[in-house]
Amino acid sequence: MNILLEARRLLEKNRRITGGYQYTIPSEEHYPYQWLWDSCFHAIILAQFDPEAARAEMRSLLSKQFEGGMVPHIIYWMPGILHLFRWGVEGTSSLTQPPMLAYAVWEIHRRNPDRAFLESVYPSLLLYYRFLIEKRDPRDHHLIGIINPDESGEDNSPRFDAPLFAAPDISYKEHLALRTKLVDENTACNFDAELCMRNYFWVKDAPFNAILVENLRALGHIASFLKHNDGEHFANLHAELIASAMRERLFENGAYWSATGADYQLLTVATWAHFAPLFAGLYSVGEAETLVRTHLLDPDTFYAPFGIRTVSKKEKSYRAEGYTNGFSWRGSVWMAPHWFIYRGLLRYGYNTEAANIREKSVALLEKSGFRECFNPETGEGQGAQGFTWGALVLDMNEG
Ligand code: GLC
Repeated sequence: MNILLEARRLLEKNRRITGGYQYTIPSEEHYPYQWLWDSCFHAIILAQFDPEAARAEMRSLLSKQFEGGMVPHIIYWMPGILHLFRWGVEGTSSLTQPPMLAYAVWEIHRRNPDRAFLESVYPSLLLYYRFLIEKRDPRDHHLIGIINPDESGEDNSPRFDAPLFAAPDISYKEHLALRTKLVDENTACNFDAELCMRNYFWVKDAPFNAILVENLRALGHIASFLKHNDGEHFANLHAELIASAMRERLFENGAYWSATGADYQLLTVATWAHFAPLFAGLYSVGEAETLVRTHLLDPDTFYAPFGIRTVSKKEKSYRAEGYTNGFSWRGSVWMAPHWFIYRGLLRYGYNTEAANIREKSVALLEKSGFRECFNPETGEGQGAQGFTWGALVLDMNEG
């Protein structure tokens, strides 16, 4: 079957309705709930051919927003199902995930203008981004802190090994235990990130902040369209403040890195975090050229036969084969980073290179199916089957 048709079928197959809310689960067998950035990706794809489903996906995601504005990274919709992912309290996790909401909402509207929809979600969006800026940057340094690697969406990326005191060859189980301990600490902290959780884990993550910049710009477009001048000013101002702070504190040797601690110690494990800022246009044209030629397209570091490695092959923590359960951010190829890199490359006019990412993505799905991630050297599928965000290839059709 045609892979693009299969992608659309998968989106429909993984669609669920609970308590009047419609959403798409990432994978039937492994991830039977709703996840934050997954739902944003699903909405971006659905915006192309089923705008009502795309809008429903965002409404369900925002329906469990906390009073203070946080949007949880998992909503455990089905009561009674065993929580395989013990990340929260009741009904939701206590963490968030890369803040792709405004981008997704703007994308839905861009393709199918609907003022009423924008009006209905705008207050929740504004509240969420205000929460990130106020609670996750209490000292006004203009960089947002994450309190658990899971908030980056890259749960066991070696970028976080140093702040977790994890060895490069740490096992899946040991790593999971460190992250669950952080959840327990967050609970003991009474979910106070700004004063309490920062003592345990507080990373200024480059992809998270770059994604935030681009999303604040999208929020700015939404606010401008709705003529909410204060919101527009807030969003655009903070997009620029965060972009400048990233340049000042996270940029070294021609690339962006994540940082930890009050002194912004750079976490110098080479990961695809270098490429995420292309998505937000945070490199100059000259810097992007060097980055693309000497890192992205270098077969000895990131450019693998079957896609872009999420961790450089030269890192001690690099693990092409994933963990025994297959799931790993320690080098495996994932479709979401492919999509961000694809978008970033187009932004800088690298149309041929972007088309190459699309071709590699389609080839992976054809070879191994809609798997969670892939071995960069062999293309073998890893982790969950029927993984919905593989359908992001449907949004890699320009350039
Ligand atoms: C895994 C991924 C995470 C994703 C989740 C649901 O935990 O690391 O990014 O959101 O699965 O698909």
